[in-house]
Amino acid sequence: MSFRDDVLAGLRARPRAIPARWFYDRAGSELFELITELPEYYPTRTETAILEAACDEVAALVGPGRAVVEFGSGASTKTRVLLRCVKPAVYVPIDISGDFLREAARVLAGEFPEVEVVPFEADFTRPMTLPAAVADRPRLGFFPGSTIGNLEPAGAVDLLRAMRASLGEGATLLIGMDRVKDVGVLTAAYDDAAGVTARFNLNLLERINRELDGDVPMDAFRHVARWNAGAARIEMHLEATREVEFTVAGEAFGMAAGETIHTENSHKYTADAARLLLRAGGWEPVAEWTDPDALFAVLLAEARPVGATP
Ligand code: AVJ
Repeated sequence: MSFRDDVLAGLRARPRAIPARWFYDRAGSELFELITELPEYYPTRTETAILEAACDEVAALVGPGRAVVEFGSGASTKTRVLLRCVKPAVYVPIDISGDFLREAARVLAGEFPEVEVVPFEADFTRPMTLPAAVADRPRLGFFPGSTIGNLEPAGAVDLLRAMRASLGEGATLLIGMDRVKDVGVLTAAYDDAAGVTARFNLNLLERINRELDGDVPMDAFRHVARWNAGAARIEMHLEATREVEFTVAGEAFGMAAGETIHTENSHKYTADAARLLLRAGGWEPVAEWTDPDALFAVLLAEARPVGATP
């Protein structure tokens, strides 16, 4: 679905909701980079530290000569941490947006001359045939950042199964998942004192105004981040602070004061729930690492053989 179709369908729906992937235009991507450096936003720095500490163990568990397949563009510090110690023969970053992907791959290839870097433009939410360069190598999938948390459990299971199908028999997966924790810590991470996450969320409305000929009044909306305990997730919403009317792509919309547009879910997992999710997705957890405060977890899992079960 296009941005236009998703926004119009999402504004017509009740409750209203727009998929979180549309946050990441240029301004949104830059704001997300700022988020990762906020004192309240623990996930990025915590996961990086876990990977640094666990990396040699990961390398020993997965063995040499691997093809590392990253689901996402591989532009992060975490990729470098992993490549330094796993020392794969081939590295395949997969992303839907080709330009950014190729640029990030070119930079990484310069930093790791001994690794064959093969960027692959594809939608990794569906099973796919990997490039020939990885054909005869054992594969290690890499899915950091707790990106899996954006999906509801059913969608997360589908994605894990697609990864399982793409990586094939004998593959392993290294995945980052954010943990359930103190509600105050969680909500602060998504509603920082400097207001960067608010700008990130509100940028979606600015993007609608810019790209879809919208006239959404920015002063009629505020950023809301709330913990949904039943679903174990942080939800981000854009809440109308007064009754408001606007048009998007020629279509008129009206919202009551207090009504919201749901813009993101960020699911959090207990240790048990994380393992259950992986197993449901066709992956058997074999090792896991956390930080001393158990804020975040990195799990290593093996592709479960397809075959008879009792
Ligand atoms: C990129 C989806 C992992 O859920 O923590 C950060 C996105 N949203 N602050 C997350 C995000 C608001 C982030 N993920």
